[in-house]
Amino acid sequence: MHLDGKKILLGVTGSIAAYKAAHLTRLLVKEGAEVQIIMSTSALDFITPLTLATLSKGPVHHQFADSATGVWTNHVELGMWADLFLVAPISANTLAKFAQGICDNLLTATYLSAKCPVMVAPAMDLDMYLHPAVKENLQRLADFGNIILEAESGELASGLNGQGRLMEPEHILEHVTQFFQESQTFRGKKILITSGPTQEAIDPVRFISNHSSGKMGAAIAEAFASKGADVTVILGQGAKKPHHTGIKIHTVRSAQEMYEVTQIHHHQADICVFAAAVADYTPKDIATEKIKKSDDQMQITLVKNVDIAFALGKKKKQGQIHVGFALETENEVFHAKSKLEKKNFDLIVLNSMRDQGAGFQYDTNKVSIFFKNGKSLTTDTLHKDEVAKLIVDCVKDLPIEI
Ligand code: PMT
Repeated sequence: MHLDGKKILLGVTGSIAAYKAAHLTRLLVKEGAEVQIIMSTSALDFITPLTLATLSKGPVHHQFADSATGVWTNHVELGMWADLFLVAPISANTLAKFAQGICDNLLTATYLSAKCPVMVAPAMDLDMYLHPAVKENLQRLADFGNIILEAESGELASGLNGQGRLMEPEHILEHVTQFFQESQTFRGKKILITSGPTQEAIDPVRFISNHSSGKMGAAIAEAFASKGADVTVILGQGAKKPHHTGIKIHTVRSAQEMYEVTQIHHHQADICVFAAAVADYTPKDIATEKIKKSDDQMQITLVKNVDIAFALGKKKKQGQIHVGFALETENEVFHAKSKLEKKNFDLIVLNSMRDQGAGFQYDTNKVSIFFKNGKSLTTDTLHKDEVAKLIVDCVKDLPIEI
């Protein structure tokens, strides 16, 4: 059985699709999962706790405390118990509460305290599903690192036809099974990622930096963590923080600081990804006081920074994998290939500033990946999450044969 020993906390909310939770529960139990259920108060209008308790062979919770017995349901323990918190169906109302951190029932309290991965399967009417508020809330949950099982299209309870139907329980089961399979791929592996920009101080109020948002590095960190890896991110100031319980973050400012912290973690990492945009030069002297405006021109002398990827490439251990990036504006392939060689990378991801939707700040990227054995592949413009998954797959398949 595919889900043997897996602990699944199933959340059920007030939606006409709540009846499908019964079938879903049955499928999960048949595959060997241990299931506990939390219902929102309005879910009780659609399906009874007795039905779900019978099918799950486990408890069904819907209130913080049972006034008759005085027994309190510990939402923190429920979140700790679960390997996966699956909310199916999730209504527009509960979705909005999750997105805003509202905590007014057992289900929402458990969501806020859950340490395990969260998967949500929305169900609502066509126009509700299309509403920008709902779209924004779904995106917010995705940004929190939650997995969204998009609603399916078809006939809706209102009689309308379109997207909004709860994903069929059989399809949800496939996603759950796949999730558990994938979550093992990098189990026990340590991944070290540099991400975001560095800041090189000029004086106490000014610095030299670049446009890196940290989106690419965050996507890579989350992609590895979702496959079971133990991820450490060395993150430049102000860069996007990845979200996943398997990720530890160390925030740094300058290239020198990024180097020092990265170096500490390098020797125990199995895979290192150098996604940060590191300043190549830094001011020779940092003024101790704010530099005052005076002449029409001023000069700052810059000196070379440490090249983190190059320095650690020299210390690479047997079996350790180094993934580099190249951000170029001209002669892209030549520069990427020479960095692959010079910095001792196993593969390098080239993004060019000449490609629309690629590089700094965008949610998307368009990359070419070059491997040591001379093979390469090029993507279309994809969401950075998709690019990250591709990079993770390339690392998994090393040495590559395409
Ligand atoms: O953060 P986003 O807004 O999402 O943008 C993503 C990105 C454009 C920053 C990312 O995709 C990317 O290309 N990162 C590397 C940017 C860069 O500095 O490239 P480079 O060609 O200058 O450097 C080559 C490699 O050496 C990189 O792996 C870089 O991290 C590393 N390097 C460079 C200089 C230095 N002093 N130390 C380094 O480790």
